[in-house]
Amino acid sequence: MPQHPLVADPLAGKRLVLGITGGIAAYKSVELARLLFKAQAASVQAVMTDAATRFIGAATFQAITNQPVFTDAWDTRIANGMAHIDLSREADGILIAPASADFLALLAQGRASDLLSTLCLARDCPLAVAPAMNRQMWAHPATQRNRSQLIADGVAVFGPGTGEQACGEVGDGRMLEPEELLDDLRGWFAPKLLAGKRALVTAGPTFEAIDPVRGLTNRSSGKMGYAVARALSEAGAEVTLVSGPTALAAPRGVRRIGIESAVQMRDAVHAHLPTELFVAVAAVADWRPAQVSVKKIRKIESNSPPELRFVDNPDILAEVAALPNAPYCVGFAAETDDTNNDQRDQALINLASAKRIRKGVPLLVANFGPDTFGSDDNALILVDRAGSIALPHASKDALARTLVAEIAQRMSV
Ligand code: CTP
Repeated sequence: MPQHPLVADPLAGKRLVLGITGGIAAYKSVELARLLFKAQAASVQAVMTDAATRFIGAATFQAITNQPVFTDAWDTRIANGMAHIDLSREADGILIAPASADFLALLAQGRASDLLSTLCLARDCPLAVAPAMNRQMWAHPATQRNRSQLIADGVAVFGPGTGEQACGEVGDGRMLEPEELLDDLRGWFAPKLLAGKRALVTAGPTFEAIDPVRGLTNRSSGKMGYAVARALSEAGAEVTLVSGPTALAAPRGVRRIGIESAVQMRDAVHAHLPTELFVAVAAVADWRPAQVSVKKIRKIESNSPPELRFVDNPDILAEVAALPNAPYCVGFAAETDDTNNDQRDQALINLASAKRIRKGVPLLVANFGPDTFGSDDNALILVDRAGSIALPHASKDALARTLVAEIAQRMSV
């Protein structure tokens, strides 16, 4: 089957200036630079303030970015002597991480005190800052005033996070973790295909209780659903994720509602409608035990194993798709493979087409369950009225981004 091209990571091919100012969080920026290369950024040019070099050596950034590091406005390595102009002209964006309270103040006032602040003033590319400071410094009216001024000036402010600080105090002001900064950077660069749209996503397994300690569940890890929620958020949608029990952290910027059973999932979904889009990725249990024992069922109290009777769970996707003002609905189908290799994809398409019509949805995404459960990779086949397209084996994030682009295109016609 011909394979459809995938949408690239928004960071792939990007040229970034990474500004590092004086703060203990500077060590986390080394990991950030490493992750940027892993995401296939084309280049990361580190520029450090004098204070930053007190916390971490320029040689560390030089080794990780494979580029000379700039610290000095009078650096003679740039032929025309204008590092403050040249460095930003080559960049797709500048991220200052960590951004100290002092550096935010410099930016807000438009000062050109050193190489980094001068190049920010002289830039012709977008600027983002990841503040990092003590909670009192962050809460200070002067810092909050600077933050508001920077936002009004079009600067993106990532975080800060909350938690334990290097000084031992607890509160707002921690720099976001490198993985979180990466998510925010992706959201910053990604095309806003679904700006202003509300999206509801279900993900993960459901857990159907038998008694207070036992229950029935399935092998869904939730990874595909979380990747879809993340990609929708990157594309500018306002995302609510109704999730069964998983070990995953909620994607940044996504509101997560945790549930256990299919009935709870159905109720949570209806409580968060209306939306323009509904993507049902969850592996919902089709049946639940007809009776849930309020007490633990004890072996010692019965002579034979208990017999379970089941009742049907609501079909959440079919119910939403049948609503009078139904959102654009996308279903998933994890099927098993009982054919030989040649007929495998066609058999999957046949099952998916029938399921798409049965559920009354415009788009159904099919995959082989046992190939993908718990894995970070997958391969998908998208089935709609016009036919089917195959997305090649790739990371769930890459597949989710491509799926979101396909959904956005279908929603716009
Ligand atoms: N789904 C749902 N509620 C259910 C069962 C399924 O919302 N009670 C959704 C899933 O999230 C998925 C789609 O319906 O998007 C297909 O799920 P699947 O389990 O493959 O469908 P079933 O109707 O259970 O079909 P079958 O068991 O016959 O394969």
